[in-house]
Amino acid sequence: MYTPKPLAWDDALNTGENSIDNQHKYLVDTLNKLGAAINEGHGKEELGRILGILRFYAGWHFGKEEDCMEAYHCPAAGKNKKAHAVFITKFDKYQTEFDQTGGSTELALNIHEEITDWIVNHILMVDGELYPCIHHKQKPIK
Ligand SMILES: [Fe+2]
Repeated sequence: MYTPKPLAWDDALNTGENSIDNQHKYLVDTLNKLGAAINEGHGKEELGRILGILRFYAGWHFGKEEDCMEAYHCPAAGKNKKAHAVFITKFDKYQTEFDQTGGSTELALNIHEEITDWIVNHILMVDGELYPCIHHKQKPIK
């Protein structure tokens, strides 16, 4: 069975734009809070609150990030926008399931696993393309 582990920030996740990195850190912190609540046995109770924060904050952050990519003429801008729209659709399905069922530990676990996976992959594969657009060089590899 999946067990949430706290996600530590890694420099490989940096996009080269501080404000965007800070927003990503907040999203990771929020997911870590849900993971901790699940591990402490009150994931179901915490889920509704966390879904509300994530939906509001992620929606706001996506707009900021899309503006940033456009400002730097980042070639990943279109791909990023599409990925955000897919995420919002996915997220709305979670919210509907939560609203209809009242949530469960299992739903909290599934959501935690899927969102953590999505965010890390998305930051590494798409958002990271901002770095060379801002700094005119490839991101240093540790
Ligand atoms: Fe993004």
